[in-house]
Amino acid sequence: RIAYVNGTYQPHSGATVHIEDRGFQFADGVYEVWSVFDGKLADFEGHMTRLARSLTELRIPIPMTAQALERVLKETIRRNRVRNGIVYLQVTRGTSPRDHAFPQDTPPSVIVTSKTIDLAKGEALAAKGAAGVTMPDIRWGRCDIKTVGLLPNVLAKQAAREKGAYECLMVDEMGLVTEGSSTNAWIVDEDGKLRTRDTQANILRGITRTAILKLAEAEGIELDERPFSVDEAKRAREVFVTAASSFVMPIVSLDGAKIADGKPGPVATRLREVYLEQAR
Ligand code: PDD
Repeated sequence: RIAYVNGTYQPHSGATVHIEDRGFQFADGVYEVWSVFDGKLADFEGHMTRLARSLTELRIPIPMTAQALERVLKETIRRNRVRNGIVYLQVTRGTSPRDHAFPQDTPPSVIVTSKTIDLAKGEALAAKGAAGVTMPDIRWGRCDIKTVGLLPNVLAKQAAREKGAYECLMVDEMGLVTEGSSTNAWIVDEDGKLRTRDTQANILRGITRTAILKLAEAEGIELDERPFSVDEAKRAREVFVTAASSFVMPIVSLDGAKIADGKPGPVATRLREVYLEQAR
């Protein structure tokens, strides 16, 4: 495998950044994940726009033009012979002797990796439906920025794994679901309305989420962009999560309790189908 590190392509096994990199010491950096279908990047523009926003919000200089970055992503995919999978990009505030305040005139660090994903495995899980758990959301107040500061997300995902679940839905102090540890969360409520939390409210504006909102509208599915509680999720007709890495994944149980009949519902199944059609 090959990784891109600050201007060069290196064997993945030995690719490193410096011990004083601010990504390593302060989680002072941002990232993006694109899915790759048949060697093509899904929604390059959408992720690029969000990357630029994340960098601007944190005042990290934009390291290169969108065109240059696209070339690097494509070259990384090519060198790794990825047909279907993901490409990961991380930009940090660079390498400088440890000091909390920003360094002066330090170029950002840029790394890119990619890996193949077995689409058949995801299809099999989506057909069966995945398990979900819930945990308090203990993150900071700027979850709209896609930073590499993911420790609460790591703890949430680990809690899910230890309970044999696929994803952990994080819950605010009002009992409302914010999002999954690495996904946006959705329900089809008791009235048949598609619900997902609005993005004013301290969650990541998922690129897949935006795509699904459009597709749902085109499918004539009634939408209600507003938070839902854990109780509403447990009583819902359907629960599912979305992300570049999992597309649309039906959640058929929550904290051990079955959602509806415990099988993937028609809305999630249809949205997964049309999402995959348009992404390809
Ligand atoms: N995660 N919410 C969180 C907290 C996320 O980390 C992600 C993506 C999403 C979905 O965003 P998108 O649809 O743009 O992928 C929502 C990526 C895939 C990850 O951390 O690997």
